[in-house]
Amino acid sequence: MEDKLINIAQGKQRHEMHASEAIFEQEMDKVFGRCWLFLTHESLIPNFGDYVVTRMGTDEVIVSRQRDGSIKAFLNTCRHRGAQLCPNEAGNARGFVCAYHGWAYGSNGDLQSVPFDEQLYDGLLDKCKNSLHEVAKIDSFYGFIYGCFDQDAPSLSDYLGDVKWYLEPYMDLSGGVELIGPPGRCLIAANWKTPSENFVGDAYHVGWTHSSALRSGGSIFSPLAGNSVLPPEGAGLQITSKHGSGLGVLWDAYAGVHDGELANELMAFGLAKEQRLIKEIGAERARIYRSHLNGTIFPNNSFLTCSGIFKAWQPRSANSTEVFSWVMVEKDMPSDLKEAFTKSVHRTFGVAGYWESDDNDNMESETYMAKGHQAKKKMLNSQMGISGDRIDPVLPGVVGKSAIGETSYRGYYRFYGDLMNSDSWAEVSAKGDNWQDQLIKATV
Ligand code: FES
Ligand SMILES: [Fe+2]
Repeated sequence: MEDKLINIAQGKQRHEMHASEAIFEQEMDKVFGRCWLFLTHESLIPNFGDYVVTRMGTDEVIVSRQRDGSIKAFLNTCRHRGAQLCPNEAGNARGFVCAYHGWAYGSNGDLQSVPFDEQLYDGLLDKCKNSLHEVAKIDSFYGFIYGCFDQDAPSLSDYLGDVKWYLEPYMDLSGGVELIGPPGRCLIAANWKTPSENFVGDAYHVGWTHSSALRSGGSIFSPLAGNSVLPPEGAGLQITSKHGSGLGVLWDAYAGVHDGELANELMAFGLAKEQRLIKEIGAERARIYRSHLNGTIFPNNSFLTCSGIFKAWQPRSANSTEVFSWVMVEKDMPSDLKEAFTKSVHRTFGVAGYWESDDNDNMESETYMAKGHQAKKKMLNSQMGISGDRIDPVLPGVVGKSAIGETSYRGYYRFYGDLMNSDSWAEVSAKGDNWQDQLIKATV
């Protein structure tokens, strides 16, 4: 067995990482304990007291809008005996009262009252020392709110690094997007990395895995059905970044997976906005706005712009993941178009969507097969396009040569390996000093 979990120089990973509980435990410390994790969107908690309950790794957290407009997040566990504090998924509250013995906390996490505290604690209970456990760092980009347990992590902006340049046209310069909640939630019998790696950069599976979906719908991707053709030369790119986030670009594919009359309406909307944006932000970035991006913000937050899905793959165990799915839509889309778009997103990539279920079968089989005593010791291959990774004079990040490749896989697992082999962010950062060279020099 190869002793390395991740072989950066050859673009390989040990299959065991998709099923081992021991590796999962390490990930909760070294990946989910250190990285920026998606929590919610500004549009879902606009007012003081609005909150959602979501997950960071295996922990539940309450994310709450404060009186001053800022956002805080806390572990959803009572400081007394650790009962779940808030049993709801979302709501508006000035505070939270524990159902077990009645300790009451403000929406800012302060412990405000304890039943009979004078009589039962002899006045010795220091409420100031029993506030809810607060998530160390909270920040947002374009309304997307992230939290991080590690005070030493880089800023969210530095963490996102080169992928920001690609996200800005659709998520911000377009006039912004919103997420439509509450999220659809479902459990899949798959390791959290299997869908994360798929979304970070797998255009390879589309014509094959989604063959029947492509045949039954009439989307712009339908010609790929059954692998009858490759996307033409120059149809797209793959990008990866220092901290593992990455994406694939399909140029000018604004209608995404949507079909029929809706696809025509979307193309007209996208084209009109692109014309406006060319004047405001230049042709290059306006084209990115109207191009389809599939991506993952490392470690577990994936999206398809234009197709309109936004996901968090929440780890439950090495072979169980809870999927949170929101619709992502441009704020200024006319309401009837927005409604038709939302229904189409649910039909394709919602929890029972016909594209989604194609993917889940693959995620579950990758995970199941990794339990094999012999199979788990073998290395998986992500070498596609390995000789073509390069630095581009205009496009940020390490850039792969075509629409179908595994550049983003290699970047994702390069960073994952650094996290798993380091004891601190200082060590992770030092290992990543020459991250572009590590990827560009890799070979089969
Ligand atoms: S566990 Fe919450 S008040 Fe006792
Ligand atoms: Fe897929």
